[in-house]
Amino acid sequence: MTLAGKRILLIISGGIAAYKSLDLIRRLRERGAAVRPVMTAGAQAFVTPLAVGALAADRVFTDLFSREDEQDVGHIRLARGCDLVLIAPATADLMAKMANGLADDLASTILLATDRPVLAAPAMNPKMWSHPATRRNHAILLGDSIRFIGPASGEMAESGEKGEGRMAEPLEIVAAVEAILDDAPKPLAGRTAIVTSGPTHEPIDPVRYIANRSSGKQGHAIAAALARLGADVTLVSGPVTIADPQGVRTVHVERAEEMLEAVVKALPADIAVMVAAVADWRVAIAAGNKIKKQPGEAPPPLLLTENPDILKTIGHHEKRPALVVGFAAETQDILANGRAKLQRKGADYIVANDVSAGTGIMGGDRNTVKVIGKSGVEDWPEASKQDVATQLAALIASHFA
Ligand code: C5P
Repeated sequence: MTLAGKRILLIISGGIAAYKSLDLIRRLRERGAAVRPVMTAGAQAFVTPLAVGALAADRVFTDLFSREDEQDVGHIRLARGCDLVLIAPATADLMAKMANGLADDLASTILLATDRPVLAAPAMNPKMWSHPATRRNHAILLGDSIRFIGPASGEMAESGEKGEGRMAEPLEIVAAVEAILDDAPKPLAGRTAIVTSGPTHEPIDPVRYIANRSSGKQGHAIAAALARLGADVTLVSGPVTIADPQGVRTVHVERAEEMLEAVVKALPADIAVMVAAVADWRVAIAAGNKIKKQPGEAPPPLLLTENPDILKTIGHHEKRPALVVGFAAETQDILANGRAKLQRKGADYIVANDVSAGTGIMGGDRNTVKVIGKSGVEDWPEASKQDVATQLAALIASHFA
């Protein structure tokens, strides 16, 4: 119950992503939060106040000029009687209103009247998100201390268009809320951490690449968990479709060589957790132009060369962090392979995903791990990647206690 007793005012504005807000309400309440919903007129075109109210177990506020609502609660009390104002989805229109201080409906009036932290989860068409007007509004809102989670990149529900603009997933939004409202002790305050996450893309030519199925879910969750414990975290992420975690500096890279460069640039650090599924090989010389299929010709041979081993480089670096953690996906001889890897890579821990257990498969939400250290092995039961991250962050913190 990480949000026990927390009161969240959830503003739902009008976008197709509003359907995800129903799940978001459940997730917030599961963690002990009380959710009071406010819906714009646009939101009510996508989901009904009845559904929202039923899931929130509260009444739904929709109207600035409702005499009944104003006498009862009032927009000022709505704006202040909570621990956090969460906007999900936040449309381009609502962002524009906020950036300009407009207050012509209940949602925008609350946003102008509140003195609580505000977290926005934007959702819109990629062209709208990248439009100069939205860019300006986003910059203004950041300057006004509005926090953002997402948007992520991916396919749009309505148009099938791809690009940045998809609302962060409910669990990512919940994690961002937890990060803001968290008043737990900060055992890693003053410590710095580098985390790698996701796959790498190794170009074959300008349009083709070698990749793997890593989603970045585990690495991103670890970066967020370390930040929750107070660490100053640099996340070096390969190409993923999930949102940058809250409270973390995220550096986006494509290739293994770029990832290594970003990691080395982030040194010195106290902690390194290398979770990325770095491609072992890259194409020796990527073609400058798209390789053309020629009738009657044999397919082009791909000459591969080895990528740098980032974990091994960091594990033996002159600025080696005090604690270095690596990951390993193993199907057999998990312990023997893990111990050998610990030695070879110069790591303090190897977290071995027991891929044979059927979980921990790349892209999934759950993981079963064995934590192999110099002095022994811990078998952790199957858990969500979020929970594995929380436990691992606690283990890391215990080293600095
Ligand atoms: O050798 P293997 O790929 O099994 O090692 C996995 C661990 O090493 C992970 O922590 C991964 O992030 C890291 N690694 C790396 N650079 C590579 C290959 C793996 O940092 N080129």
